[in-house]
Amino acid sequence: MTAKRATAEVIVMSSAEQATDEAAALFKQAISHAVADRRVCNVALAGGTTPHDLYQKLADDVYDCDVPWASVNVFFGDERDVPHDHVDSNYHMAQRALLDHAPIPPEQINPMPADAEDLAAAAAEYEQIIRRIVPGEPIPQFDLILLGMGGDGHTASLFPRTDALSESHKLVVSHHVPVLGRNRMTFTCLLINAARHVMFLITGEDKADAVAAVLGDDKRARKEIPAAQVNPSDGKLTIVLDAAAARKTDLKPATE
Ligand code: 6PG
Repeated sequence: MTAKRATAEVIVMSSAEQATDEAAALFKQAISHAVADRRVCNVALAGGTTPHDLYQKLADDVYDCDVPWASVNVFFGDERDVPHDHVDSNYHMAQRALLDHAPIPPEQINPMPADAEDLAAAAAEYEQIIRRIVPGEPIPQFDLILLGMGGDGHTASLFPRTDALSESHKLVVSHHVPVLGRNRMTFTCLLINAARHVMFLITGEDKADAVAAVLGDDKRARKEIPAAQVNPSDGKLTIVLDAAAARKTDLKPATE
């Protein structure tokens, strides 16, 4: 099923595997189109567990000749406060699943320094790297930002009831997340909503309530959900779901 919200294309697939395959196809398409149009693709990867299989699938197809990996600049939409070789690191997960297998020049891969001593300075420095590499004024415009969503509707490391959600100047912030008891570094909505294309990949029953709130018309409920603040002003928003995550909406899988 493909339905359009005012600003989103919502694609529902029967299974998590099919949703991952669909997201992988859209991911490759975004890279090819960006490089064809602008000779480079600036992409921000998501963390957590859902994208792991997507990255692995991209790695399996890495020699799919029409994906110009050598022209891709890789960034991270958020990162945990651990070293990049730590099992909880989003960079570590993406490196093992994809980046160690894709022919992307190492200098084009930009891990997020979320375990730095001075987190505010590290966030500001990461923002400067983005501003240096990713074109776009006044806000750099990523070709593709991949996002996941937690059961509470958080996305990247923008959690409900945190100040980072309403950040109106910075593009990258580091903040303490009370519900986790940990620090996180994250893109802000300013940067996410400047992207040409934002794609969510959301699977699993535990996301169904938050998905229903994001896609629903209850403005108060949506206000509480960070993922509902993602609305690229001049870009495309794609939400790829499996049937379990879409269970509390009226959307049915594409193959039904
Ligand atoms: C992170 C992610 C986060 C993730 C959601 C969903 O660092 O954890 O960036 O935003 O997308 O927490 O995580 P799962 O995919 O593990 O459900």
